[in-house]
Amino acid sequence: MENKKLFITDTILRDAHQSQAATRMRIEDMIPALEKLDKIGYWSVECWGGATFDSCMRFLNEDPWERLRTIKKHMPNTKLQMLLRGQNLLGYKHYADDVVDMFVKKSIENGIDVIRIFDALNDVRNIEQALKSCKKYGGICEVALSYTSSPVHNEEYFVELAKTLEKMGADVVCIKDMANLLLPYDAYSLVKKLKESVKVPIHLHTHNTTGTGDMTYLMAAQAGVDIVDCALSPFANGTSNPSTEALVATMQGNERDTGLDLTALSDVAAYFRTVADKMKAEGTLDPKVLNVDAKTLLYQVPGGMLSNTISQLKQAGKEDKYYDVLAEVPRVRKDFGYPPLVTPTSQIVGTQAVMNVISGERYKMVPKESKALLRGEYGKLPGEVNEEVRKKCIGDDEIITCRPADKIEPELKKYALEMREKGIGKSEEDVLSYALFPQVAEKFFAVRDAVAPTENGENTVRELIVEDLSV
Ligand code: CO
Repeated sequence: MENKKLFITDTILRDAHQSQAATRMRIEDMIPALEKLDKIGYWSVECWGGATFDSCMRFLNEDPWERLRTIKKHMPNTKLQMLLRGQNLLGYKHYADDVVDMFVKKSIENGIDVIRIFDALNDVRNIEQALKSCKKYGGICEVALSYTSSPVHNEEYFVELAKTLEKMGADVVCIKDMANLLLPYDAYSLVKKLKESVKVPIHLHTHNTTGTGDMTYLMAAQAGVDIVDCALSPFANGTSNPSTEALVATMQGNERDTGLDLTALSDVAAYFRTVADKMKAEGTLDPKVLNVDAKTLLYQVPGGMLSNTISQLKQAGKEDKYYDVLAEVPRVRKDFGYPPLVTPTSQIVGTQAVMNVISGERYKMVPKESKALLRGEYGKLPGEVNEEVRKKCIGDDEIITCRPADKIEPELKKYALEMREKGIGKSEEDVLSYALFPQVAEKFFAVRDAVAPTENGENTVRELIVEDLSV
């Protein structure tokens, strides 16, 4: 076995509370812990991106860019990491290349060091622009394989994909097992093959939804994985990532010792326990998320999708159809060419399965997102699509085979002009917030700027935005 340190990324400021507490941790809850976190010696701390950006503006009345700058100020010694959905950035549709480029540039400028980029379909064309921009602006570019299992997603598929990503310039390759489907022995085998096939470090991301996460990390460590994602114990396990302290203790004194100090970890965990208790009291952290949910092992349906499905069925008054929907999900997934179930494909496949069951006829009701997926608007589907189903859903519509973003004209200036007309926003970062979430951002700016109006008079500042963008 290799004699080398296992590195840890802590997700306490992003995935941990996104998975357990609907992304509701506030910057005030983070600040008291930042200097301590900075001294731990993590490989990186994931603190931004994913759903945090939307949640900041929509629910917490916080400027996501300001949050990032604050974290950076208190954590100058630790690499800050974010999660980016390729051409979808932090939103739910494809953006033009100029928006992607500016978003990546501003993320790095405001403090991000490592950008983890993934595409739900593993279509590398959706990763290209973000990767290019990340390298251009000096970020560490980590590209993720969206892990799933299906007749097309075998070990060979992921090894080939990793080789392609390395060739494209990825600095790190991540196995993103968002649904905790990667079982311990399969992890061992996949990591071993990847280590033999690519030179870049391998980073593994899993959750503990099904209760196998710690074992998966242990086996991956034995196979030589370089970095793993953990969360400090107050927000670890269940739908979140395995706990940092448990893994650090497990590795102590062994070949893959993490070198992290358990006492220091326990000190900062004690603080986050008070945050978790507060969130339990206000109801943002539901203790149910901590239960092991082995249904995922049986149905291969990620935990987050299950709760979505339950609420959709409740709305339709058809809760008794729960197991019918669980059985329908794999069938829809097969018809759609086996997309991995991660945002946004998990929602698309889940909603279609619900509609197939409650309407009593498969593909009688087809949401526009399902149609877009079948038209190739999200990228190339990994496997063969059921052509009969496709015909029923989209008729003779044209199917896109090029890189989807090639069809999108530059949009940045359009957004800036729109904002100028409305008299909202005061920075290039604001233009990006608006480009991603127009209504949410507009509401947020109204509240934020009513509290703290700009000194120079807003018009001057707004002119600047447009000029800057036209360079
Ligand atoms: Co995750």
